[in-house]
Amino acid sequence: MKKITNICCIGAGYVGGPTMAVIASNCPEIKVTVVDVNTQRIADWNGADLENLPIYEPGLKEIVSAVRGKNLFFSTDIEEGIKQAQMIFISVNTPTKTYGKGKGMAADLKYIELCARQIASVADEEKIIVEKSTIPVRTAQTIKTILENTGNKIKFQILSNPEFLAEGTAINDLQNADRMLIGGDHSTEEGRKAIDSLAAIYERWLPAERIIKTNLWSSELSKLTANAFLAQRVSSINAMSAICEKTGADVDEVARAIGADSRIGSKFIKSSVGFGGSCFQKDILNLVYISASLGLNEVADYWEQVLLINSYQRRRFAENIVTSLFNTVAGKKIAFLGWAFKKDTNDTRETAAMYVADLLLEETADICVYDPKVSQSKMYSNLEHLGTRSNEENEAHLKAVSDPYEACRDSHAIAILTEWDEFRSYDWQRIFDNMKKPAFIFDGRNITDCKKLTDIGFKVYQIGRGCNIASV
Ligand code: NAD
Ligand code: UDX
Repeated sequence: MKKITNICCIGAGYVGGPTMAVIASNCPEIKVTVVDVNTQRIADWNGADLENLPIYEPGLKEIVSAVRGKNLFFSTDIEEGIKQAQMIFISVNTPTKTYGKGKGMAADLKYIELCARQIASVADEEKIIVEKSTIPVRTAQTIKTILENTGNKIKFQILSNPEFLAEGTAINDLQNADRMLIGGDHSTEEGRKAIDSLAAIYERWLPAERIIKTNLWSSELSKLTANAFLAQRVSSINAMSAICEKTGADVDEVARAIGADSRIGSKFIKSSVGFGGSCFQKDILNLVYISASLGLNEVADYWEQVLLINSYQRRRFAENIVTSLFNTVAGKKIAFLGWAFKKDTNDTRETAAMYVADLLLEETADICVYDPKVSQSKMYSNLEHLGTRSNEENEAHLKAVSDPYEACRDSHAIAILTEWDEFRSYDWQRIFDNMKKPAFIFDGRNITDCKKLTDIGFKVYQIGRGCNIASV
């Protein structure tokens, strides 16, 4: 087994940054260098102000402050990083393709391919390549082919080591991972040694029995499967929430009742305005594409339904706002509490908030957003990405403010899009007093106390509970 003393990670994003910080902190004898083409991102990782790291993640700044400059380095010198390392993690983005074959469905592997080509051209000695990015099953074969055909005839071992961290809890998820999955080639001595070298790193802080070793293809497919199963649970409970609203059942009570069944379990059955984040939609689209490409149309249809329910849930929430506000939100101020796709992150990729905003902007509402960690420019870039209207129009009708009470002042309605803890302890009487009447709250996360708000005078809608507003 090769003892690893130098690691390079290509991609300093939500996965590369936290993962490498945790490896560096647990393995002081390993030099870890995270490289990226994005010079601003690297400058931010190296910045003196730890409050302004490119990623907000609880516990991250403490770890970075402890190991940065000791055995954790951030650099734009990708070639040097590759040359020095015995093990190279590929943690680059694998977004949904926006062009050509598989547009809107398949994973875009151009960044993965670029990494493989760059490694091949620079490497002058044997290396272990670790796929950390989420990729379609059998991508390791593509990487292997590129490495073997374009390089300096160096031997590479390729491992699949998908990342299961969730944003907002990434440090804990890494430090106390339920399992660490390593896929590799068990049929050769070199393959087995490479798997053991990677396992030895994780065994520095994880019990050996949590390290699951599989073949490459099982590992790659397990990542897509895990995300599909998790998202499917959210869509299942969200589908039930619509039934609850029509029948008087309470979705949170239903979730508690079914979650007590140990076969079902209580996690990932919290009904919401819809799941967001960079992974679920992209990975399920990819799974749908793979299934269809394999001629498995029924399988493709099955997984696609998880996404259709998610869009339905977001649309249902937005349409309910319009209907409840007497069928028009034109020119009305709607306050958004939260924009991030979940609490404790500044990530807004695929956030439900942008879809709800987009629909309300189509109805010519004026939106005022407060989110403790998301900047206005990020909100505009999310809306620009949807491409429904010009940037000027988005900027004219959506503003972000840094004070939640300011966001809610003179609004006709408040929509809660993220479950930030601070929202639970607001002075709702003060908010109510400064709103237009009737004052509506649409709680897309079910974090408010319906009775308390109703007593103050609010008209309240909660997902799957209706509360005191009849929902559509
Ligand atoms: P990200 O966009 O935050 O970071 C990716 C980084 O890679 C970017 O900074 C980009 O500049 C850099 N990059 C792209 N091509 C490069 C190249 N050729 N050379 C150097 N740098 C390059 O993405 P992320 O959220 O960290 O996700 C990375 C991968 O991990 C994806 O495949 C994703 O599906 C997977 N994943 C993400 C999460 C998550 O919670 N975000 C969790 C598990 C797995
Ligand atoms: C997910 C997976 O959980 C993680 O294992 C994988 O590595 C990356 O994708 P992430 O997207 O960061 O992580 O967050 P997650 O906690 O899974 O939440 C995703 C979305 O689902 C969020 O918008 C969240 O609010 C929503 N959600 C989650 C619900 O609406 N209800 C739930 O019960 C759980």
